[in-house]
Amino acid sequence: MEAKKAAAELAVERSVQDGMIVGLGTGSTAYWAIQKLGELVRQGLRIQTVATSVASEELARSLGIPQLVTADITEIDVTIDGADEVDPQWNLMKGGGGALLREKIVACASRKLVIVVDEGKLVQQLGAFPLPVEIVKFGWELTLRKLRAMGCEPALRLAADGQPVVTDNGNYLLHCRFGAIAQPAELQAALQGTPGVVESGLFIGLAREVIVGYTGGKAVSLV
Ligand code: 5RP
Repeated sequence: MEAKKAAAELAVERSVQDGMIVGLGTGSTAYWAIQKLGELVRQGLRIQTVATSVASEELARSLGIPQLVTADITEIDVTIDGADEVDPQWNLMKGGGGALLREKIVACASRKLVIVVDEGKLVQQLGAFPLPVEIVKFGWELTLRKLRAMGCEPALRLAADGQPVVTDNGNYLLHCRFGAIAQPAELQAALQGTPGVVESGLFIGLAREVIVGYTGGKAVSLV
């Protein structure tokens, strides 16, 4: 926890200034960035934000952080978000928290995407974590079979009650075990070309800064 908190707080310190529009990530690391922003807003920082999930939206609201609707945004100054894996080229695996679609929309609308992780998220190659893929409900079994034919072992994400998890966007999620992903950009292109796939958790070439937190509470920017 201290590693995630340290990374998130350093990201806010380094990247957020008065007057900015800030994208709020999702997950247990982004949580600390939102907490820090709440603290700064209470001290007078003027920002506006856009959240990447209903959970982050509710957290920001509870902290009194001003939020915009996407219709009122042309560009986001900076987004601070977590990741499940980060490779040496800063390609990311995201979506462990199920928010990958909104996270990618917000990341792609941001001038700068800052990724905050603990050291355990740094990997040589993506793929130890099963790749989350958001798919539409209609024909989901067909989509699952298409993805299996691409060389992974896919499984529908289930909630504790055994029912399929439904994302904030009303879709299902597949966990796709590809093993080590040698060519993430090619895999992302293939997934995008598969009908039924809404978005994958591969974020290729989007991160502009990676901040790593360590046990003991130290954090370092890899920029
Ligand atoms: C949510 C995400 C998260 O950023 C990712 O799963 C990392 O989560 P955490 O900071 O809790 O380890 O992509 O969809």
